[in-house]
Amino acid sequence: MSDVALITGGANGIGRAVALKLAANGFFVVIADREEVAGEEVRKTILARGGKAEAVRVDVTKAGEIEAVMGGVLQRHGRIDILANIAGGSIHRKLIEEMSWGEWKEVLDVNLKGTFLFCREAAPIMQRQRKGRIINTSSNYGVTGSARRTPYSAAKAGVIAFSKSLALELAPYGVLVNVVAPGPTETARVMKNWTPEYIREREKEIPLGRHGKPDDLAEAYYFLCSPESSWITGQTLHVNGGLVMP
Ligand code: NAI
Repeated sequence: MSDVALITGGANGIGRAVALKLAANGFFVVIADREEVAGEEVRKTILARGGKAEAVRVDVTKAGEIEAVMGGVLQRHGRIDILANIAGGSIHRKLIEEMSWGEWKEVLDVNLKGTFLFCREAAPIMQRQRKGRIINTSSNYGVTGSARRTPYSAAKAGVIAFSKSLALELAPYGVLVNVVAPGPTETARVMKNWTPEYIREREKEIPLGRHGKPDDLAEAYYFLCSPESSWITGQTLHVNGGLVMP
């Protein structure tokens, strides 16, 4: 029986690349995303390549929906071996005086609350199994901060501290919790905000001279799912071409 990996945000960008990578390496992949059509496309791509997958619709900010998704996964598969919380993003880029409480909360909800809610459902299952890996998603802005991204930076810093705490809670059960912190990565969502001039200027700041590709990130998530990382927990793997070295 294949290990089961649930990937939030698996319908697009980095999450999609992680879904394809894990499926190619024998995992049964559950694509959990609020975009049903894109999720279905990833499922079909995996099946066409000989892998195993299902797509479920979920809004990661809704506790009831997450409980239902996790209940369904348990019913169908009886286990969950990997939880990769990747859904998120930087929305509402504004100076603090223009930021409403509702906007602030929306950014915190998708980037931090969703991670907490999914981890809360997965933790008891993984504790019972005495096996499991959780990989949460931060950002370079979670360590450097970024003007006009106060809630995003706070949420992504929160993901790191939350994951360290959870790693301590789950270590006695052999369940590992780590973080991937992507740097600027060419996904459709971020590319639409970048002009060719911006890309060229930005690349000059990146020591390795280029932006990340979703596949660069997928390698990091896969490593943290693999037997090769079995003595790593509570850590943040920064994948950013050398842009930030915390
Ligand atoms: P993306 O926008 O391409 O993919 C994000 C996925 O999350 C989408 O499929 C979207 O439908 C899903 N999603 C968003 N909100 C959701 C919700 N409430 N419920 C369910 N699904 C939801 O984004 P990308 O660029 O692949 O980013 C993935 C993660 O990596 C995010 O957490 C982002 O903050 C982080 N990151 C990305 C960077 C980049 O340059 N692309 C840099 C640093 C961090």
